[in-house]
Amino acid sequence: MRRLNFPNHPYQVIFVVGALVTILFVFFVTTSPQNLLSSLQWTRATGVRNLTSSSHGLKKVKVINVTYVPPRIKKGEVVKLDKLEEGLARARALIKHAAQNQTQSISAYKDSDYVPQGDLYKNPRLFQRSYLLMEKLFKIFVYEEGDHPLFHNGPCKNIYSMEGLFINFMEKDKRFRTNDPDGAHVYFLPFSVAMIIEYLFHPIIRDKAVLERTISDYVHIISQKYPFWNRSLGADHVMLSCHDWGPRATWYVPQLYFNAIRVLCNANTTERFNPRKDASFPEINLITGEIKGIIGGAPPSSRSTLAFFAGSLHGRIRPALLQHWKDKDEDIKVYETVPEGVSYQDMMNRSKYCICPSGHEVASPRIVEAIYSECIPVLISQHYILPFSDVLNWESFSIQISVSQIPNLRKILMEIPEHRYLRMLERVKQVRRHFMVNDPPKRYDVFHMIIHSIWLRRLNVQISA
Ligand SMILES: *[C@@H]1O[C@H](CO)[C@@H](O)[C@H](O)[C@H]1NC(C)=O
Ligand SMILES: *[C@@H]1O[C@H](CO)[C@@H](O)[C@H](O)[C@H]1NC(C)=O
Ligand SMILES: *[C@@H]1O[C@H](CO)[C@@H](O)[C@H](O)[C@H]1NC(C)=O
Ligand SMILES: *[C@@H]1O[C@H](CO)[C@@H](O)[C@H](O)[C@H]1NC(C)=O
Ligand SMILES: *[C@@H]1O[C@H](CO)[C@@H](O)[C@H](O)[C@H]1NC(C)=O
Ligand SMILES: *[C@@H]1O[C@H](CO)[C@@H](O)[C@H](O)[C@H]1NC(C)=O
Repeated sequence: MRRLNFPNHPYQVIFVVGALVTILFVFFVTTSPQNLLSSLQWTRATGVRNLTSSSHGLKKVKVINVTYVPPRIKKGEVVKLDKLEEGLARARALIKHAAQNQTQSISAYKDSDYVPQGDLYKNPRLFQRSYLLMEKLFKIFVYEEGDHPLFHNGPCKNIYSMEGLFINFMEKDKRFRTNDPDGAHVYFLPFSVAMIIEYLFHPIIRDKAVLERTISDYVHIISQKYPFWNRSLGADHVMLSCHDWGPRATWYVPQLYFNAIRVLCNANTTERFNPRKDASFPEINLITGEIKGIIGGAPPSSRSTLAFFAGSLHGRIRPALLQHWKDKDEDIKVYETVPEGVSYQDMMNRSKYCICPSGHEVASPRIVEAIYSECIPVLISQHYILPFSDVLNWESFSIQISVSQIPNLRKILMEIPEHRYLRMLERVKQVRRHFMVNDPPKRYDVFHMIIHSIWLRRLNVQISA
């Protein structure tokens, strides 16, 4: 176990220094979060202190009555921030315009690589416009503070692989990453919750305060050293975690919890995931750290199993699934563990529908496994915000059923006409691009989709010094 180099100050050193100077306004979109992209309506809605008193199930924030020391911002920095905000304002206007101009053809913005189109997207033209503007403008600063293995690093294999992969891709990135913090739109906090748990969390002592210490120290340090945290009260800062305790890791710093952009696999709205500012990203179980060998599957005609699931019985949904369907039906193969001689991957390859119920946490790696193996995902979850649902029309390539419909699973699937199944299959193949893990990343792949989710949330915040 390595010691952290951080001083152990408690985070909230609340100094009352003079009158509260509100130099900061954060404006938020008032519309429904899932439609962040398709309904851009910038309204000057709230100050950051009101951020959490809105409807979205958030309890009123314990207002941190930090009469905070206004950061000393140099004149040049203000000019730079104004310029950045101007750029974002122009981008908003262009995206809005793309949304309004119905006559504009889909490929208005030529792109030899890929042009989003079809029912897969909520609004393909809007997405393309936003994506291209992101490529052109978006700049991310990665704080350099923090040592391996907890910072600038993360697991790149198995269930939490997306956490480490994203952090590593961000470290190596040339397009979005900037070394000039004054020229950045967002600030990335490169800690890995999975690594903090692995290195600092003692399985017997089970002291969860290790998360609190590490993360509040980190925010403390960067908010002392740089003016950016105080300037936005965290609203233009980003953390990312695929760990089950990703949300918990942010509890300890209220501004991180309530204001910052949290990119989480565990996007559970009853755990106060707030899709208006937080982004959901997919859990991908990369056993070898690579996607080689897990892409593709049998053609529809050789998919002899109607629906497949294999997984352990945790959570509330899976017991219901197994109770109803284990050993009950030839066409619906539901197991706790795949029988001897049967390969999990092969079953995914040879089933038409793959059942993806939430387990302990809302996210399930099966969703991406299904997409990879050209199997239509059947989603059974509650309070889960699906990855990239700002832009992706999940209904067009997956089946969503509620827990109470589990007994009707067979009927529901059997009633889907062949032509609808085939259309969904085409879209599953089309959407796969957005879930691909490439090293180095490629346009429109999972890394870029995560960046785009962050871009959207940043677009909806206006910060002024
Ligand atoms: C915050 O909310 C209160 C009460 O809802 C309101 O009076 C106040 O003007 C709001 N502040 C800002 C900056 O919007
Ligand atoms: C915040 O602190 C100031 C100064 O200590 C105090 O006058 C004010 O009542 C406090 N506001 C709230 C909402 O607690
Ligand atoms: C940010 O605010 C905190 C708390 O008020 C203060 O201790 C810190 O010095 C401020 N940071 C900067 C860079 O001014
Ligand atoms: C809509 O888009 C078309 C094609 O790009 C363009 O020619 C036209 O001027 C646009 N209309 C408006 C109102 O901007
Ligand atoms: C699943 O299908 C893909 C593509 O056809 C193939 O590469 C892979 O080997 C198959 N895996 C299994 C376990 O059948
Ligand atoms: C979502 O969060 C709630 C509240 O913490 C919890 O009771 C529920 O089990 C979570 N859902 C899943 C699938 O983990």
